[in-house]
Amino acid sequence: MAAMLYPAGTTTNNRGHLEIEGCDAVELAAEYGTPAYLFAVGEMRARARAYRSAFAAHTDDFEVLFASKALPVTAAFRLFAEEGLSVDVASGGELTMALEAGYDPKRIYMHGNNKTDAELRLADRAGVGHLIIDSFDEIERCERVLENDHDVLIRVTPGIVPSTHSFIQTGQADSKFGFGLEDGSAASAVERVLASPRLNLVGLHFHIGSQIFEIEPFRLAVKALAELRGDWCRMLDLGGGLGISYETDDRPPPIENYVDLKFRAVREFFDEGVRILIEPGRSLVGTAGVTLYTVGTIKEIPGIRTYLAVDGGMSDNLRPMLYDAIYEAVVADRPDAPAERTVTVAGSHCESGDILIRDVALADPQIGDTLLIPATGAYGHSLANNYNGMPRPPVIFCEDGEARVVVRRETWDDLLARDA
Ligand code: LLP
Repeated sequence: MAAMLYPAGTTTNNRGHLEIEGCDAVELAAEYGTPAYLFAVGEMRARARAYRSAFAAHTDDFEVLFASKALPVTAAFRLFAEEGLSVDVASGGELTMALEAGYDPKRIYMHGNNKTDAELRLADRAGVGHLIIDSFDEIERCERVLENDHDVLIRVTPGIVPSTHSFIQTGQADSKFGFGLEDGSAASAVERVLASPRLNLVGLHFHIGSQIFEIEPFRLAVKALAELRGDWCRMLDLGGGLGISYETDDRPPPIENYVDLKFRAVREFFDEGVRILIEPGRSLVGTAGVTLYTVGTIKEIPGIRTYLAVDGGMSDNLRPMLYDAIYEAVVADRPDAPAERTVTVAGSHCESGDILIRDVALADPQIGDTLLIPATGAYGHSLANNYNGMPRPPVIFCEDGEARVVVRRETWDDLLARDA
């Protein structure tokens, strides 16, 4: 078991099973069924605290925003609110969950490259603290739809390209997001918003990509933004992006290094007194979450490969199909046994591409075993779907040996519930 991939304190208990925050993964699989998303609450709290204390070592004037798209679960909003985080929502749906969780609207930051009238009205009525303006059309839409004045940030695409999968690069000039620097549209947007009767420009935002290990591009992005500097600029939101370990050999930089780099970049290129915001998603919840499956069939094709099929797949984890994401796995019934059988973990869907892991070595997997895939806490539940009429898994929070279901499993009846 590779420590980096699991929540702190993950261990093998006296029954020889994998245990997460005091909860036996095999017992939970029996009690709640599979597939199931399991979260180590202590790990989420620890990561939120690591972000806050990394900033607090430099300044009081910062905000850490939970990028809720990584885990849009009301209980997660509540947990990060308790930990003193603000929140980034990117739709009316995420906003609804944040409000339901009791988030102070002033601590909500609303994103979206195509916010609808209805979403803007909801934000307006709720008193959302800040809107992140993404386009010229949106400026006009805000002026038409909003009844109250709002503080806003302008989203800039700084033309910096981090090394990560092209689908999750967002800071390049050729992007559907924000205003480009190079073509002058960011500067025009600043002028346009400064002249707006409804919108009060207070800062700038960028988010250059996700699952990033090489952090220097963040400094370059801050540097690029500095050409827009002005008295009005009281806050800089530097997005999320810090990567996590999906594989044993992955070595993402520590949260402290990432925060230090962003803090120093702002001090280097902007005036003192500019509040720094960041929006981590994946790095708050990714390695805190694991997915449990039950092994259903094992098909050996002599001389070719062995397929081990589990009771989920691309409906609960779309990332292998979308990004060629690579995962590891362990048989939770015997995590310490030597992993000597190489198999390909397939899902249950009607697609040949529904493969969760190609060629992973497991400890003599048997039908009925609980297979656990670590590092599935971010963008697993949020990208889940009902392909092949598959009900979506429950979300279970584990803390101090107690498990509680915070999102129940979907049922077959739920699949009929919207029929008109
Ligand atoms: N802020 C903004 C404006 C974003 O668009 C995102 C992620 C974040 C913050 C959080 O970034 P993080 O800290 O999680 O890297 N579905 C993809 C990831 C898409 C990320 C989209 N934006 C995946 O599963 O890899």
